[in-house]
Amino acid sequence: GRSNSHIFFIFGASGDLAKKKIYPALWWLYRDGFLPEHIRIIGYARSQLTIEKIFENAKKFMKVQEDEHEIFEKFVSINSYINGSYDNKEDFEKLNNEANKLSKQESAHRLFYLALPPSVYESVTELISLHCRPKSPGWLRLIVEKPFGKDLESSNKLSTHLSKFFTEEEIYRIDHYLGKEMVQNIIVLRFANQILSRVWNRDSIAAVIIIFKEDIGTQGRGGYFDEFGIIRDVIQNHLMQILSIVAMEKPNSTKGEDIRDEKVKVLRSVLPIKPEDVVIGQYVGDKDSKDPERQQGYLDDKGVPKDSTTPTYAQVILSINNERWAGVPFILRAGKALNEKKAEIRIQFRDSPGGMFEEDASQQDSNHKLARDELVIRVQPNEAIYLKVNTKRPGDMGFSIEETELDLTYGQRYEGVKLPDAYERLILDVFMGSKINFVRSDELQEAWRIVDPILAEIEKKNIPMIRYKFGSFGIREAFDAAAKHGYIFRG
Ligand code: BG6
Repeated sequence: GRSNSHIFFIFGASGDLAKKKIYPALWWLYRDGFLPEHIRIIGYARSQLTIEKIFENAKKFMKVQEDEHEIFEKFVSINSYINGSYDNKEDFEKLNNEANKLSKQESAHRLFYLALPPSVYESVTELISLHCRPKSPGWLRLIVEKPFGKDLESSNKLSTHLSKFFTEEEIYRIDHYLGKEMVQNIIVLRFANQILSRVWNRDSIAAVIIIFKEDIGTQGRGGYFDEFGIIRDVIQNHLMQILSIVAMEKPNSTKGEDIRDEKVKVLRSVLPIKPEDVVIGQYVGDKDSKDPERQQGYLDDKGVPKDSTTPTYAQVILSINNERWAGVPFILRAGKALNEKKAEIRIQFRDSPGGMFEEDASQQDSNHKLARDELVIRVQPNEAIYLKVNTKRPGDMGFSIEETELDLTYGQRYEGVKLPDAYERLILDVFMGSKINFVRSDELQEAWRIVDPILAEIEKKNIPMIRYKFGSFGIREAFDAAAKHGYIFRG
């Protein structure tokens, strides 16, 4: 007989994530021939919509080229939309019947993407498991987006619920930062290069900083955001995942379980964060800006209560209590409504000992110190890896010293190479059953364990909230705290 069909379900098909990320990713995978031959895609949400309407909204993000219209029409034809509730058994039975009809196979493999608010998670997952499972030998894979709970307790509760209806094997917890080229490259960079792996420790490294900046505010997502704040939105997941890969020991192999074992092990060594190592902020509008968006502060977002104390900026400094890292600060910094969009990892090496260049260094540093070497992994935009080093100023007599970079900018070195979108890669991983880039339940639990006490302190208003203007470079207090822990900022 013919090979098994696949059905990809998108729950929350009318939402922001579906429109901006999931539909475009599926389209690119389809266009490039990565999806299985027999596949149907079914969007599901509460609103009465049509698939045409869904594509009208998503099209802007799908970047369909002039010569792709024909194949795009084919893609549209494998899509359907069904509306129904998130808590009614009959609707799920109906969905199941429709799905069987569309794929003409009751044992088609089924992938369910949950792009849903947390309030409906429990009912939807239960109903999927009870009414929408494929007949054998079809398998089921459930892709869950954050938020996975709001804190350790609610996250554990959700995990317990999911484990009643699905095996761990079936669950794919997505963190789209794990699908980014440079995040995936950290493992290769670290473990395929002796020149780096030998110095990747407290003897050579003074500080590590992981930075996430955005130049947009909440843009109407204030309702969601206000319940979560920046720590839950990006630090507990995206930045913590990066930290675990930067800091983990060498895995036994490239197998998903080996890598995830090491990630969770290093997270377990992270000490409780001290409140004095936390800086939080909230943006206010910049009345002098010509850009109407920048004039709006966080509290001006319609979804945000006027007295909200939710942080839109946070910096936390973590200590990893193990042989490799004791004493090295890991600084996680994230903010919305800043001057630029950027995500990067900076590994700052220790000062060069000895005074040989003291005189010469005084030209660049009032402390008569040479600039530290620094390895920068720029995740976005313009993927790059560069190593800041000192060099002799070309052509100069004597020893004038200048800072420069050994520079691997992807746009130049790999000109024309297309880097797939994070969601594209991760969705393909799910089709292939690869779990390397998905979050295991014990990792998730550790990540919550680390941020939980700080969330509680913020809730109790024990940490001062600093206001910053939309478009700021950052928050002074955060730079000072990083400097106090030994990270020297040089731009
Ligand atoms: C999401 C957050 O997980 O990541 C958003 O919820 C944030 O608030 C987004 O804007 C950033 O993703 P990217 O890929 O644009 O850096």
